[in-house]
Amino acid sequence: MDNHAYHIFSIPVPVSEEHVDKYRELRLLALTTNPEAFGSKYEDNVDKTRAQWRAMIDTPERFTAVARVLSTGEWAGMASILTPEMAGQHTGDTGPNPHLLVGMWVRPAHRRKGLGKRLIGAGIEWVRTRTEGMPDKKRQVTLEVHRHNESAKALYDGLGFVVTDGECEDSNRIPMFVVAK
Ligand SMILES: CC(C)(COP(=O)(O)OP(=O)(O)OC[C@H]1O[C@@H](n2cnc3c(N)ncnc32)[C@H](O)[C@@H]1OP(=O)(O)O)[C@@H](O)C(=O)NCCC(=O)NCCS
Repeated sequence: MDNHAYHIFSIPVPVSEEHVDKYRELRLLALTTNPEAFGSKYEDNVDKTRAQWRAMIDTPERFTAVARVLSTGEWAGMASILTPEMAGQHTGDTGPNPHLLVGMWVRPAHRRKGLGKRLIGAGIEWVRTRTEGMPDKKRQVTLEVHRHNESAKALYDGLGFVVTDGECEDSNRIPMFVVAK
């Protein structure tokens, strides 16, 4: 499949019932397929109600980019960026927060086709637009990656993310950031 086989879009708010279902399905698949890659666990998510799933994505404080397979409508991958306000709720950190990239996942059959790059690119463009004219600190996008996740680290590195001095709560993870401009 080439680049034209996929459509990259962001989940519109208010979120449709179909999008809640597809988001839930892909997120649970991501957590079962690559549990090592995420801070969140399948067991903590599988029993969430539809309203809880909806609440996660039905907000303008979150940008969720999705790669849709044009021929089938299947969602091949997704990644979200949380605003600084939402990122604070996510991490429990009350201090000033940068934007936070979370939930980066591509179905195994669709990997190495540039989708990770395109999904993050869409997220960075969203941050770039909403922070136009602001100081660099407000334009930062951070993420946490497992220190042995070579494919994800290579992806982020290729997009200009650099490792920061900071530490993550989980010592197996390292923080990276980029300025969206
Ligand atoms: C990491 C992940 C999102 C990459 O998605 P992807 O769509 O395959 O990535 P892309 O095709 O856009 O790759 C872009 C670049 O990233 C790097 N990269 C991606 N996968 C790689 C791999 N397995 N090995 C080495 N480099 C890799 C390459 O530099 C690649 O460019 P290239 O194909 O021109 O060499 C995907 O492997 C995945 O979902 N992994 C499991 C979940 C995960 O680790 N999420 C990250 C949590 S922090």
